[in-house]
Amino acid sequence: MAASSGSFINNKRSMALWAITLALCLVSTLAELHRINHLVNSDSLKFLVIGDWGRKGLYNQTEVAVQMGKIGEELDPAFIISTGDNFYENGLTGVDDPAFEESFSNIYTAKSLQKLWFNVLGNHDYRGDVEAQLSPVLSMKDQKWLCMRSFIVNTGIAEIFFVDTTPFVDKYFTHPGDDTYDWRGVVPTRKKYQSNLLKDLDSALKDSTSKWKIVVGHHTLRSAGSHGDTKELVKDFLPILKGNDVDLYINGHDHLVQHITSLDSKLQYFTSGGGSKAWRGEYDLSKEGLKFFYDGQGFMTVKITETDADLVFYDVFGKVLYKWSMSKETYTAI
Ligand SMILES: *[C@@H]1O[C@H](CO)[C@@H](O)[C@H](O)[C@H]1NC(C)=O
Repeated sequence: MAASSGSFINNKRSMALWAITLALCLVSTLAELHRINHLVNSDSLKFLVIGDWGRKGLYNQTEVAVQMGKIGEELDPAFIISTGDNFYENGLTGVDDPAFEESFSNIYTAKSLQKLWFNVLGNHDYRGDVEAQLSPVLSMKDQKWLCMRSFIVNTGIAEIFFVDTTPFVDKYFTHPGDDTYDWRGVVPTRKKYQSNLLKDLDSALKDSTSKWKIVVGHHTLRSAGSHGDTKELVKDFLPILKGNDVDLYINGHDHLVQHITSLDSKLQYFTSGGGSKAWRGEYDLSKEGLKFFYDGQGFMTVKITETDADLVFYDVFGKVLYKWSMSKETYTAI
């Protein structure tokens, strides 16, 4: 047991939550979306978002982790969200892969980060043993770890819908190159996997009574970075998000931080993919709706109340790069 998880184990509420989520993992149902209740007993929900990080501390991963810890100290987040690409280059080799400790447990050691981490899978995670990342064995090794393919976290103020985007992207199937992907649980019924998830997401969003609806996935919907928009997601997810008044789509995949606004709906796109290797130097700053773009390392904080949401990007030094606030009142007044 890592020494850093000591304070976490002593937190009874977190332990109970962990046990419940672990049970949820074990009793996996046919539905694509698992539900987790993580009700926040305060008038605001606060969390951190990091993506594209697992590089054994290299490429400023450790530096970003240290600043997350410091900002987390002030913020006191309810949990941390990882937008995927948790372990480079090729996911985990199995539950005993030391990369789990080298890239996660031994890096995010700050006290303020010993909260539940809600992880989704990125395309690089699919290049390794996916079942390992989803395994409760990892949650036993490090109790802040929680990874599922697609799931819903209801916090009361906001409902957060985590979606598994990699199986939607055609090129990983049609042009995998030298990379191999672990499609267990996705193929041979890929179309069914996709349609089940889209159907479940649509009905869960329709049923949601939360003030704020947030969708989190690894891949970009819209991006000024080198990956650009993900056409499959624009086709399959965007109509569902817009049709159900989703406030925010949060992703990684491009190794940078950026905010793009919609011109035809209230949906705001935030990329938090600056967890380690960045500075690719390929971008299109003329992208429609682009409000902010930073090609380097960074992370994001989110604070949400019944009426307002405040999102802030920080860089590798913990310096504020960008702030964005949105209000429910403004939208209803329009
Ligand atoms: C680490 O961050 C600093 C400050 O942004 C930057 O100058 C440097 O290039 C980064 N290192 C890597 C490997 O990205």
